Amino acid sequence: MTRVLGIETSCDETSIALLDGTGDAVTLRSLVILSQDVHGIFGGVVPELASRAHLTAIEPVLRRTLAEADAELSSVDAVAVTVGPGLVGALLVGVCFGKALAYAMDRPLVGVHHMEGHLFATSLEHADAVPPFTALLVSGGHTMIVDVEAWGRYRVLGRTRDDAAGEAFDKVAKLLDLPYPGGPHLERLARGGQRNAVRFARPMLRRDQRPGDPDYFDVSFSGLKTAVLNQRKASEAGADQSSAKASAESWVPADVALAFQDALVDTLVAKTARAVEHLGRERVVLGGGVACNRALVDAMRERVATLGAQVYAPSGRLATDNAAMIARAGLFHFERGHRAGLDLNAHASLSLPGLIA
Ligand code: KG4
Ligand code: ZN
Repeated sequence: MTRVLGIETSCDETSIALLDGTGDAVTLRSLVILSQDVHGIFGGVVPELASRAHLTAIEPVLRRTLAEADAELSSVDAVAVTVGPGLVGALLVGVCFGKALAYAMDRPLVGVHHMEGHLFATSLEHADAVPPFTALLVSGGHTMIVDVEAWGRYRVLGRTRDDAAGEAFDKVAKLLDLPYPGGPHLERLARGGQRNAVRFARPMLRRDQRPGDPDYFDVSFSGLKTAVLNQRKASEAGADQSSAKASAESWVPADVALAFQDALVDTLVAKTARAVEHLGRERVVLGGGVACNRALVDAMRERVATLGAQVYAPSGRLATDNAAMIARAGLFHFERGHRAGLDLNAHASLSLPGLIA
């Protein structure tokens, strides 16, 4: 059994976790996630503020993690830390802290790719969410469809050409005058919407696409965001020129929210189903903050059930950024003998390790 301390500071969550395990038999001892509220005021993550907040939070977060597990720091066998991708200043806080701990305790250090962490997250709650599977990772910064043949053997089948799914939710939520981060607010608003009262085209989704086509698995959401913006502008122009009644008819926020969510969900579900069929997988694993969206999870379940596949979605705590997934991915690399030196650095962009053709 190895006890791994995981550290995650790539964006606006300061998180540390303690995990015990061997192979896929793991027990999460404790997980502390401190979300930085300050960014809500600015409508988006302010990198410099994120770095400073990580700096003040990280030591108390460590103490709390150890207290919740009733464990001593000296019981830790290895330290795993997110090295990228993410905000470089934010990442550096975790990387420096991890290096200092590993050096002071004379324990091995393992660097973890943030998105590989997301691939492992759901397995902490669902023992069957293990390879081979098709993964859909949808967060504020990333949208990827990954085939996971085995832990450490990945094929990135599709990704977003522009905005990430969560980013699209947040931008459209702003157009709907909802607070940041807008995803959960938009989902709530959409529940009161009337289906097909408004309709947006499904981006980059056509029936004539074939597996060899570059856009077969890729997605694109910036056009969808622009369609919502245009709808709003048109309704405002209508309000200026004619009666308020006309604008009320063309801009019903709940209807627009539902139409946007339907277009985005349909696209993600269709592209993921293509990946499931393409490699004949029987499991779909979701990850990232947008995996909290019930409409996405339910639509995915319904669609891939027709292909004989099962969907595994993480709880909110493990869908969004957390250190438990970093500790879990760190355990995998530790067991393979991977070690980082004290020259370990943070990287704003970083390709997924273990890519296969
Ligand atoms: O994974 P995450 O916590 O952070 C990143 O690595 O980006 O994802 C945050 C994103 C935000 O864009 C947020 O609006 C979105 O996940 N999100 C949702 C929902 N809950 C969180 N989007 C749609 N529906 C939700 N229920
Ligand atoms: Zn993330």
